[in-house]
Amino acid sequence: MAFAPSERLRRLPPYLFAEFERKRAALEKAGRDIVNLGIGDPDQPPPALLLDTLTSCLRDEGVHQYSPSQGIEEFRSAVSAFMKGRYGVSLENRQICLGVGSKEVIAHLPLALTNPGDVVLVPEPGYPPYRSGAVFALCEPFVLPLSKKNGFLPDLDAIPPDVARRAKILYVNYPNNPTGAVAPEGFYRRCVDFARRHGTIVVSDEAYAELYYEEAPVSFLQAPGAADVGVAVHSMTKTFSMAGWRVAWICGNPDIVEIVRGFKANCDSGQFMGFQKAVARVLTGGTGDMKSIRDMYRRRRDLFVEGTRRLGWDVPCPSAGLYVWFEVPKKGLPSMAFAEKAMEEADVIMLPGSGFGGAAEGFMRVALTVTEDRIREAVSRLSRLRL
Ligand SMILES: Cc1ncc(COP(=O)(O)O)c(C=O)c1O
Repeated sequence: MAFAPSERLRRLPPYLFAEFERKRAALEKAGRDIVNLGIGDPDQPPPALLLDTLTSCLRDEGVHQYSPSQGIEEFRSAVSAFMKGRYGVSLENRQICLGVGSKEVIAHLPLALTNPGDVVLVPEPGYPPYRSGAVFALCEPFVLPLSKKNGFLPDLDAIPPDVARRAKILYVNYPNNPTGAVAPEGFYRRCVDFARRHGTIVVSDEAYAELYYEEAPVSFLQAPGAADVGVAVHSMTKTFSMAGWRVAWICGNPDIVEIVRGFKANCDSGQFMGFQKAVARVLTGGTGDMKSIRDMYRRRRDLFVEGTRRLGWDVPCPSAGLYVWFEVPKKGLPSMAFAEKAMEEADVIMLPGSGFGGAAEGFMRVALTVTEDRIREAVSRLSRLRL
């Protein structure tokens, strides 16, 4: 028998990160020493407090049984305390729902909250699941270009009125992947205003909110009225270097959170309760760990930015996030061609802007997920590229 992917799946482009991971594996198999600045997969182990809490609860009664879809009370209470302490945002536990990582929450949201034919507003460049989730739900993704001249913020006033009327979800993501931009509170106020006028749900992806190098970024939920119209999605992946654990949450508007919980009850059974207990502990006691992780990325960021600037490249210094986003150092060279050149000639993987959508052509993304020595090595190899 022959099998084919569904029409919805066929409508998606190949998942860029997976493509580059395949290329990396092939090169390494051929014996090449690759510096992988591609995928944003934290390379260091999570904090000891997290690991110790996990090991100490492994024999707790009932810990290996199914979790409630929305997460255990201990986890949600810790999230509530964290959101209050970090952002001054008060949330009851019913306004918080556990996610099996934030990727699934983002990709599933349109299935829970939209109907076929609704518009989903997706930033470009942007994290691919905003678009794929919309396509899976038979929605119409409408691209909001993020341009350098707008500080990589979408221009909500430029959305045509007939599109705005049909817009069911607006995705925003700050600190932004891939551009590193941070949103001022005024931007979130404009999102609330837009959502009120058009009956749109704002979904603010705050996966990088704790990786900042200057001022701590604000949350969408700090904007007045935000919890009337939307939710924030937070992830532990980058905050505590724990991508494989798959722990995240969605919080804010109680009705939206309840709908998401109801949807998720049909397709997952929460996350291992040991992980939830460990995260609850580190969320309330891990401020120092967050700071050390930030310091580590700051050092890496400085090495890459200063090193490539010495090569004459125009590389902006991001104030938050896990990535450096810069223009291809040779005018007119497509980003994919530059990425291939760096891979072939320098054994350095960087992601081309074109993989994040047409609006990002001409840019490159570097993930700071290798050690300082490997960043030095990458810069030294890149210095030998003939551009
Ligand atoms: C913008 C953004 N949101 C969400 C995620 C998903 O993180 P996770 O599924 O590990 O929580 C990522 C991962 O790279 C991301 O870049």
